[in-house]
Amino acid sequence: MRVLGIETSCDETGVALYDSEQGLLAHTLYSQVALHADYGGVVPELASRDHVRKLLPLVRQIMARSNTNGQNLGGVAYTAGPGLIGALMVGACVGRSLAYGWNLPALGIHHMEGHLLAPMLEEQPPSFPFVALLVSGGHTQLVDVRGIGQYQLLGESLDDAAGEAFDKAAKMLGLDYPGGPRLAALAEQGDPLRFIFPRPMTDRPGLDFSFSGLKTFTLTTVRKHAGDNGLPDRQTCADIAAAFQEAVVDTLVIKCRRALKACQRKTLVVAGGVSANKMLRQRLKSRLANNGVRVFYPREAFCTDNGAMIAYAGYCRLQAGQRANLSIDVRPRWPLAELTGD
Ligand code: KG4
Ligand code: ZN
Repeated sequence: MRVLGIETSCDETGVALYDSEQGLLAHTLYSQVALHADYGGVVPELASRDHVRKLLPLVRQIMARSNTNGQNLGGVAYTAGPGLIGALMVGACVGRSLAYGWNLPALGIHHMEGHLLAPMLEEQPPSFPFVALLVSGGHTQLVDVRGIGQYQLLGESLDDAAGEAFDKAAKMLGLDYPGGPRLAALAEQGDPLRFIFPRPMTDRPGLDFSFSGLKTFTLTTVRKHAGDNGLPDRQTCADIAAAFQEAVVDTLVIKCRRALKACQRKTLVVAGGVSANKMLRQRLKSRLANNGVRVFYPREAFCTDNGAMIAYAGYCRLQAGQRANLSIDVRPRWPLAELTGD
């Protein structure tokens, strides 16, 4: 079965084709970063309009590149939530309508399920059951995964998501949107021991997270060392970035270890935009290896939003016989634990 996957939940237009025999056939991504850069963050209405402009040409390009037409497709999958309502509507309208025109089944996919299954596209995929750490711009969640649609939420952020905290801390350091990868790059030149930031909620039991205090700590440190231009000198900014990254990564590692122990699992899957963070990847691997835990990630390009993960999640569910009806429904808010396997 060959499935066309469409991702438009936020500021990336992603399109991909997944084939059950041949694996991932093609994928393409158009990022709106330049469009939103002047505003310091995503402007929802601009995002929707740009998806309208880019989506169909990308679908055409992907279909042509892999010699695919409606007749050799088995279905169409699109992100139906969570995300920005207008952006989701573009993908859902196009996906549902293409499927109708081609007389194919269609299915709306949960964006975080897409992230969670993205490591399945790698040469050595994880096998169920596993604990998943989902760290993106909108979510920080620990999930016990027993199979497709069998998701038990173990813990989540009570305030900012990890990616959101990275982006906000980056802004305080004068870095442009999207701040996460920029802060990580700056941190490489910093001394992680000059400032010690708190590890929120690690001194009490439980698997929830909170990153807003860390954000305030960052702001206080920035203000304390700010010069005339409102910012500390470059080296101090790098030292703050390093201390911030250390604190976030350490907190995530502590909670992952706890979750694995609580569920008695030996496999950890890390996905979502922040899983592209090099330090997080290295630390989780090295710190969990002596507990016999294997850690799986998507390749870097599939950590952040992409169409490949939606094509794959769509394939899993469409080949199990799941179908959407003809109405076009999206869910800007959609708890992952509401999903079922059928
Ligand atoms: O999964 P994603 O592309 O979109 C959402 O579903 O939210 O995640 C985007 C988030 C942003 O907050 C971005 O700053 C963060 O992932 N991110 C990173 C890195 N690359 C992306 N955060 C830290 N280090 C990185 N290397
Ligand atoms: Zn995402």
